[in-house]
Amino acid sequence: MDSSELRTRFLDYFKEKGHTIVPSSSLLPDDPSVLLTTAGMQQFKPYYTGAADPFRSPHPTLEGKPLGSKNAASIQKSFRTSDIDEVGDERHLTFFEMMGNFSFGGYFKEEAILYAKEFLDSLGVSIEYVTVFGGDKDVPRDEESVKIWEKYGFSAAKGNLKFMGREDNFWGPTGAEGPCGPTTEIYAGGIEVWNIVFNEYYQKADKTLEKLPTPGVDTGMGLERLARVLQKKATVFETDLFLRAMAELPEDLDERIRRIFGDHTRAIAFLLADGVLPSNKEAGYVLRRLMRRLLVYEHLDARIATEKLLERVVETYGHPYSNLRKEFILQGFRAEKERFQQSIARGLKELQRLPALNARNAFSLYESYGIPYEIIKELGGQRAQGLAREGFDAEFAKHQEISRAGQERKFGGHGLILNTGELKAANEEEAKIVTRLHTATHLMQAALRRVLGEGVRQAGSDITAERTRFDFTFDRKLAPEEIRQVEELVNKAIQDDLLVTYEELPYEEAVKTGALHFAKEKYPQRVKVYTMDSKYPEPFSKELCGGPHVQRTGELGHFKVLKEEAVSAGIRRIRATVK
Ligand code: ALA
Repeated sequence: MDSSELRTRFLDYFKEKGHTIVPSSSLLPDDPSVLLTTAGMQQFKPYYTGAADPFRSPHPTLEGKPLGSKNAASIQKSFRTSDIDEVGDERHLTFFEMMGNFSFGGYFKEEAILYAKEFLDSLGVSIEYVTVFGGDKDVPRDEESVKIWEKYGFSAAKGNLKFMGREDNFWGPTGAEGPCGPTTEIYAGGIEVWNIVFNEYYQKADKTLEKLPTPGVDTGMGLERLARVLQKKATVFETDLFLRAMAELPEDLDERIRRIFGDHTRAIAFLLADGVLPSNKEAGYVLRRLMRRLLVYEHLDARIATEKLLERVVETYGHPYSNLRKEFILQGFRAEKERFQQSIARGLKELQRLPALNARNAFSLYESYGIPYEIIKELGGQRAQGLAREGFDAEFAKHQEISRAGQERKFGGHGLILNTGELKAANEEEAKIVTRLHTATHLMQAALRRVLGEGVRQAGSDITAERTRFDFTFDRKLAPEEIRQVEELVNKAIQDDLLVTYEELPYEEAVKTGALHFAKEKYPQRVKVYTMDSKYPEPFSKELCGGPHVQRTGELGHFKVLKEEAVSAGIRRIRATVK
């Protein structure tokens, strides 16, 4: 069975069972807490918490139509940066497609397990064993799943049901907080093929668990792995998903390197197609690392033509993913190749010049020239004897924040050029973005007061290039309709291109103008009162503030609320962006 048939069979099966089929969301997520989309459930997160209503809220990947069902299924483009260094072995991938079915109060364990079992049976895949969450001090053993599996002939006594702990059988939230819960996993052909998560809890930022009012189902099955099992191949790299591209590589090329090309060319094509550009930060840096790794190998072996592989990737995937455009992807790759051309040669020269290679200078070669560890080890020969992966990784770890459990590694370690306490920016480009977000935050506070009443007061604000995070006094969850009204008011104020001006006044006088101010904050003696607009009878927004702000609201772009949630009793938090 080829992979396109597998995709169709999966979607048909779940459609038949009353699921709305939803397109994959972009690899660049709306959820600001992750770098790239790591799982199918991400586009559905608000349904698990009740923040969105499947019958009323417009769904982002359905052109604004609601899901219209409590059950959904998708094949999601996913990317896990935590696996980059493992690529080259038999199973790790960065980019992959995740088939998943989801329910938000529609069904639970009984049906989720039945569907998984029935679908695998229909493909003729025989399950070797299953795992179930064994319980720990916070969450009890999942007896319900045990009972269901027993009906299908799986039990601890027979040895085909195993209990596992938190590490293996508990899905942590993507990002700092979110839905989570125990999992049951299905193994076939020697690998885990299906992860079924029962979202019974919400993990808060302080790591405590709260029971969700309506438990949900979130499942994920790697398409590549299932294709491997069905096509009876030893590794995913031998399936039809990789064959065409990898056939462009010299046959005698080291198998590890062949797999790196197989993986990275897919990842590069999909990242470029979703609008990621190579850069020195975040998703752009991930893309740059992948490209440069291939470019070094290409530089060292004239027989390798990465572009040919990229063309084959587009041919393999162009059918389900029509945004993969050959010329666009080739151009993106060529541009990075031109930029890197100079430093490859310099980096390799520097590598030859160093009398001995150690973790520090190896990492510096990697940081400065993008020369990958493997290349340094390989070309360093005798001189690289003292260099070990662990040491290099330790250097690497020093330069990155590592977050766990489905989260992403963020690259960087740069200093801040702007830090007002509220606004933080690492470079000029970010400074421009946070300034826009700052003005948007003022508009949002004004809009919140119009929609929810004058009881709304600022209780905190934190702005980074990804989003503004605004805390305010209010005693209940906002309705989707209220969020929509706030967005509309802000976007209207942006369209009206209001003038942003300020007046400097002594503190007492400034407060008398009725300008909003942040109760807890200590202000200097003279303060600025920022006013946005003149077209309204009352200014749209008037606040005490140190700035910086844009000059006209028309500079902001489209305003969008990403998330609304509780911080503590009587305090709500909104994350929002302008794009
Ligand atoms: N969200 C779960 C996973 O990605 C299904 O494994």
